[in-house]
Amino acid sequence: MSNLYWKPGLIRRYDRQGPRYTSYPTAVEFHEDLAQIDWPGAAAKSRQNGKPLSLYLHIPFCAHLCYYCGCNKVVTKKRDRTRSYLDALKTEIQLQSRRYGRDRVVEQLHWGGGTPTFLSPAEMQELMDWTRSHFNVLEGAALDCSIEVDPREMQDGRLEKLHQLGFNRISIGVQDTDPKVQKAVNRIQSPEMTEQLISEARDLGFTSVSIDLIYGLPHQSSQSFARTLDEILQWKPDRISLFNYAHLPDRFAPQRRIREEDIPKPDEKLKMLENSISELVEHGYDFIGMDHFALHDNSLAEASRNGELHRNFQGYTTHANCDLIGLGVSSISMLEDCYFQNTPDISEYEAALSEERIPVKRGLRLDMDDEIRRDIILELICRFELSPEAINQRWGINFDEYFPEEISLLQQMVKDGLVHQQIDGRYRVMPPGRLLIRVICQVFDRYRKPSATRQFSRII
Ligand SMILES: C[S@@+](CC[C@H](N)C(=O)[O-])C[C@H]1O[C@@H](n2cnc3c(N)ncnc32)[C@H](O)[C@@H]1O
Ligand code: SF4
Repeated sequence: MSNLYWKPGLIRRYDRQGPRYTSYPTAVEFHEDLAQIDWPGAAAKSRQNGKPLSLYLHIPFCAHLCYYCGCNKVVTKKRDRTRSYLDALKTEIQLQSRRYGRDRVVEQLHWGGGTPTFLSPAEMQELMDWTRSHFNVLEGAALDCSIEVDPREMQDGRLEKLHQLGFNRISIGVQDTDPKVQKAVNRIQSPEMTEQLISEARDLGFTSVSIDLIYGLPHQSSQSFARTLDEILQWKPDRISLFNYAHLPDRFAPQRRIREEDIPKPDEKLKMLENSISELVEHGYDFIGMDHFALHDNSLAEASRNGELHRNFQGYTTHANCDLIGLGVSSISMLEDCYFQNTPDISEYEAALSEERIPVKRGLRLDMDDEIRRDIILELICRFELSPEAINQRWGINFDEYFPEEISLLQQMVKDGLVHQQIDGRYRVMPPGRLLIRVICQVFDRYRKPSATRQFSRII
């Protein structure tokens, strides 16, 4: 099965730096001209259209520092560090609820981090109660309610508390189970601990368990990573994210503690990826799209088959119809034609909210060209196809005249077997192209200058 995906020569030729397209334009294009972005105007428009909401709450605290980590986080041993942050976050929820409307239906709620389970059970209760009293958050299975969980931070009945609060999906950070790798990245987490958490989550009735793995970490080899995968597969997670380690030590200082010479070489990484895909497919997982696998009967796999998959800052989702409101330090909101992000600095975030100011730092107002290109990139990354005819109809353009340069780049990809063009003019991404979907999307990225791509990690 993996042979369908695997064309090493092509992969080497096309493997370059590129964005992961959790948005188009990507966050790298955000700027600080807030008047031009006019996010309050976009929020008012969102209130008028009354679409359902997806809320993302960022909890930045971690008790330990993982050297590879590229997330926005505050590493601290002080458990009471959360107090002032929670107060600020609650003020932001209140202010945003006034802006977007208290009656707005929330279909999807996600707590990300950092480590959201750094909060005590009482704090979790407080935050959820506050959110529910400021938005019309759906109940029970109608709410897609997920949280990022670190098994090392699940003491004092946190899992039961999450279940009580309405969370029905957990996403567990594992990365690798090999002790040597764990030591090199400063994340010691026994497989037994993870296994026990999964089993308790299933007993409690969580409907989906997802696991994060990273390939490309120090001391990993194709053999050691195959053992990690074997171990994980015994637990039958519903979803697996297999991230390529993004090593950007200039941007993330803790990554400087990882020795370059310990990082596996590109050929070894390719082997890890190839073996992993073939192993996952053999064990009944569908390759949903970039980095993501789900068991065939999982809602994400179903959405992928039905063409209903969507992608936003949280990765793949089934909630294409929602406006996304990001709450908390560094969080990004995504409305129809406007993206905006809070400051990544926690002191600045708390100070602004103590004056009842939402500290939006930067963002972007999309023009029509951005929207057309976003539409195309979403088609490619979520459905692995592109219909020029449908684009013409939706946007009133002539695809051939609008995208001459892009079409010639696509034609090269057709020649290389990454993409197939059907008689009706539609492009379909072929299995070898699925691994290189970022490069295919990049064809339509008008900001894809060499200077910009340097800020992204390698594709494979
Ligand atoms: C916010 S963390 C997960 C939650 C929790 N803090 C934990 O680590 O268990 C989200 C995920 O991002 C991924 N990640 C973090 N840094 C990364 C990097 N430099 N390259 C690739 N993936 C990364 C990891 O797989 C991690 O589990
Ligand atoms: S991977 Fe998770 S636990 Fe580790 S530092 Fe990053 S956010 Fe914190």
